[in-house]
Amino acid sequence: MKILITGANGYIGRRLKAKLEKNSDLNLRLFVRNKKSVLENDVEVFEGSTFDEDSLRKALSGVDTAYYLIHSMGSDNYKDLDKLSATNFINIASECGVKRVIYLGGLGVKDKNISKHLLSRIQTGEILSSLDVQTVWVRAGIIIGSGSASFEIIRNLVEKLPIMLTPKWVNTKTQPIAIEDVLSYLEKSLYLKEKENLVVDIGTHSLNYKEMMLQSAKALNLKRYMITVPFMSIKLSSHWLNIFTPVPFSLAKELIDGLKSEAVIQNDNAKKYFPEIKPVSYIDAVKKAEERIKQNQVISRWDDKGGRIWEEVHKDEFHDAIFFDRKQKDISHLDKHKIYQSFMAIGGKNGWFAYDFLWTIRGFLDKIVGGVGIKRGRRDPINLRIGDSLDFWKVVDIKKDERLLLFAQMKLPGLAWLEFKIKDDELIQSAYFYPKGVLGRFYWYTLIPLHYLVFTNMINGIVKKSENSDQTKTNGKIKRTLKSM
Ligand SMILES: NC(=O)c1ccc[n+]([C@@H]2O[C@H](COP(=O)([O-])OP(=O)(O)OC[C@H]3O[C@@H](n4cnc5c(N)ncnc54)[C@H](OP(=O)(O)O)[C@@H]3O)[C@@H](O)[C@H]2O)c1
Repeated sequence: MKILITGANGYIGRRLKAKLEKNSDLNLRLFVRNKKSVLENDVEVFEGSTFDEDSLRKALSGVDTAYYLIHSMGSDNYKDLDKLSATNFINIASECGVKRVIYLGGLGVKDKNISKHLLSRIQTGEILSSLDVQTVWVRAGIIIGSGSASFEIIRNLVEKLPIMLTPKWVNTKTQPIAIEDVLSYLEKSLYLKEKENLVVDIGTHSLNYKEMMLQSAKALNLKRYMITVPFMSIKLSSHWLNIFTPVPFSLAKELIDGLKSEAVIQNDNAKKYFPEIKPVSYIDAVKKAEERIKQNQVISRWDDKGGRIWEEVHKDEFHDAIFFDRKQKDISHLDKHKIYQSFMAIGGKNGWFAYDFLWTIRGFLDKIVGGVGIKRGRRDPINLRIGDSLDFWKVVDIKKDERLLLFAQMKLPGLAWLEFKIKDDELIQSAYFYPKGVLGRFYWYTLIPLHYLVFTNMINGIVKKSENSDQTKTNGKIKRTLKSM
């Protein structure tokens, strides 16, 4: 069976690929917007977008079953983009003779309380089910797995706040499901005998959010108290999540908006068509997710996408960056691979080599103004992938033993990059800034002294770390170049 996974570098897509590749009957093909974000040697990777019909045609030709794991949330006009994306996809799937499309959407009913996001997920399912291609539309509520946005929100709130003032929406019912169970339904959907369109609602026992948080506390061996208050609006709750969890204000608002209405199962098709799958309980799903985090086995996280090629999108600005702060250090006596490993381990719990408190303050200030902040940390303490979030940075380029390029996602009056490069016998660390207007220039000049401290210690720290693991010493002096116009 030739299978296409779209959204293959997304939260679900990466995990589904990891599951399906164990099945030797399947011939996998991935569809991504940025080929560099999935460095797979073992499967075919097609680069394209659902807004580019030619790329879709190429990816869908010869395919038996295609997974549709795409959404455009994050863009201002995501509702229209979602519609266009699904329409293009199903038209071309039909033209290419694809037999089945498997779509993972959200649980919910079209009533007056429905959120914009959930409505868009339902409309996507309706569009995908509108042509002659069979569509298996699997609908899940909140998914519990290491790195899923919902789980990260609950985990952070429960870990950080012994007493919580909670809004009314914590009494809304939902049917959560473990990521492993979601993947089982998606895999087993390949083998359904039915030929007609199906909607399959999946989930474990029904719980409200308060019960979920209390059960999570129990799973984490914590004692927590919750007091429901009537005055917490969606906006206030979103600010709360923005401050206490890694999720930024914009996403928190979309998610909370979705909690106004119940997300419970509307049919018993999961039991009917997949009787062999017995979803694990919520508390077991939490324990499993926690275990994965502790073992550093997080395959994907909610914000580790990165199909949009940042380097490409902002190529001109990057090359025209008006300001840069460059530091160079002689590393002729050191193992270059160790230097590479040293800068590849930057950020997250490993820290930034010096003045970590300044990074924390910067992250907090970013959160205050609705930015991503520093709490996203890193998915893995050693390895990075293009697309990974790294505190308030996004990994946009990696060249093995040579280069790491980070793009700043914090709120800034301009665009910023941080680059580590090994060239000949030198480690070159460059911070680039493309300012917007007078404010951008003011920002850069104001930060020059702080940059001096932070970046000097950073390059020294990178070298020192590899020296420590190498037992070789260098007397390399730092050469500093500042470009300011
Ligand atoms: N995660 C959950 O908790 C959850 C819960 C219930 C249902 N679901 C459903 O599961 C599905 C997958 O969600 P997810 O969490 O895996 O999402 P995700 O991590 O945000 O990934 C979305 C994927 O869509 C890709 N994409 C967006 N626009 C595209 C386009 N025009 N052409 C090609 N690719 C495009 C993105 O690529 P880039 O990297 O290029 O941006 C990314 O790989 C969605 O339908 C969602 O509603 C998810």
